[in-house]
Amino acid sequence: MHQKIFSKSRIKIFIGFTGLFFLILNGCFPHHPQSTFNTQGPVGLEQERLFILMFWLAIAVFAIVQSVLIYVLINFKRREYPIPGTDIRIPDVPPKQVHGNTKLEIIWTIIPVFLLAAIAVPTVQAIYSTAKPPISENVFEQPLEIEVVGHQWWFEFRYIDEGIVTANELYIPTGRPVNIQLKSQDVIHSFWIPKLAGKVDLVPNNNNSMWIQADTPGDYSGQCAEFCGIAHGRMRFRVHAETPENFDKWLESMRTPPVPFAGEGYGLFLANCSMCHTIDSYTSGSYEREVKIQDERWSDWYSDPEGAVRVSAPNLTHLAMRTTIGSGEQELNRENLIKWIEDPSYFKEGTRMQEVAQLYEGKKAKLSGSEIEAITDYLLSLAPPQLESSSTQLETELVSKEWDSPEEQGEYLFTSYGCASCHSIDEDETKIIGPGLWDIYEKSVSKVEGLSAEEYLEQSIRYPNEYIVEEYPEGVMPLIFENLPAEEIESLIAYLKTLSKK
Ligand code: CUA
Repeated sequence: MHQKIFSKSRIKIFIGFTGLFFLILNGCFPHHPQSTFNTQGPVGLEQERLFILMFWLAIAVFAIVQSVLIYVLINFKRREYPIPGTDIRIPDVPPKQVHGNTKLEIIWTIIPVFLLAAIAVPTVQAIYSTAKPPISENVFEQPLEIEVVGHQWWFEFRYIDEGIVTANELYIPTGRPVNIQLKSQDVIHSFWIPKLAGKVDLVPNNNNSMWIQADTPGDYSGQCAEFCGIAHGRMRFRVHAETPENFDKWLESMRTPPVPFAGEGYGLFLANCSMCHTIDSYTSGSYEREVKIQDERWSDWYSDPEGAVRVSAPNLTHLAMRTTIGSGEQELNRENLIKWIEDPSYFKEGTRMQEVAQLYEGKKAKLSGSEIEAITDYLLSLAPPQLESSSTQLETELVSKEWDSPEEQGEYLFTSYGCASCHSIDEDETKIIGPGLWDIYEKSVSKVEGLSAEEYLEQSIRYPNEYIVEEYPEGVMPLIFENLPAEEIESLIAYLKTLSKK
């Protein structure tokens, strides 16, 4: 029995290959956000030109070789000739053999040499022209210096000269080269913005560099292009190319504090999220602090993955200005953000947040629905004033509150700033995350020479790293109370005074 030509297994294989073919072909549509065609800027264009040259050379080689092959197959097919009227067939005579033909050998050695030279010359040229950004005499056209740090599974962007740190959405000015230093904190990642430049790896302890330039404003899709663990496929990012004026506006807004938010969400955020997520890139010295803390967060986790209470995490300053969450994974909107906080694995399996934050038990957050909504509203308020969205109402609510005593206001602030989540106030001085605060006023009286208890407490609230209590780690308490109004500090201290037997 002959096998049927259209057997089931053959049809399956056919369908499989056709599917794969179209899947691969899909990457060739020039307007697909991650297509390598229709590129932008000098680096992308240069690389695309090189590809097009190689493509057409390969097509020419393919066409010539296939034509010769088909010609030979047809003309030199083995044939037998029957003698009419008999059963006898005359075997074919083999054609003239060319093995050892010096002339032919030379021809088909020299042709590839020329072909390779035709590819090698522009390739080497492109390697040099895309290695370093052009240096201009004009100070304003000097490359923008950025450091990209790969983390499992998100990207950190550090604007070295501007002192700004952000994550997962990179803002660049158009028409100006951007010089990128590539680093990794954990494993090998790869930085790839298909429309702007080819991929370059981020290797731990071996920094690479690349440069990009976008000539027209627009959003470009990026992707980690080196397998780096479970969430590799969801380690994406965006590049927003803005006109120089709009880029400057963005820088300015990153230096502007958001409108103060006074809902319940702020305290909940401080208590549950602020150990890993920074939200104050606009304060002085924040850049150096963030770089240092990010390393500390990482080494905490790396040295003790089971016991660590923090791990490196994206800076969330002005989160509401971004367009995506979860490292380019989902559109940023209230609904998605709520889902993300509730259970990050819903969008992205494997996040360190879910693994490390005390907030999670199994996959679910240990917060009520309304608490998660409160945190979401707080996060959505993180934008410079003109962009700020929903906090105004809550703000008026707080401003209109009347207090009978400073102690009462202090207690309210203590709860709404989330202090209680890290500091116990009971007589047993239970250790939560920070030192217990029972009898703290008395203890502060002669804590530091030359400082009254009030001064010591104020300093400790505004600059918590200045006086670290023994056995407690530095850099855990959020550094966001530096600019708290004097009145609020007084109320907080008044409240702390009440935490005593007297
Ligand atoms: Cu990072 Cu793949």
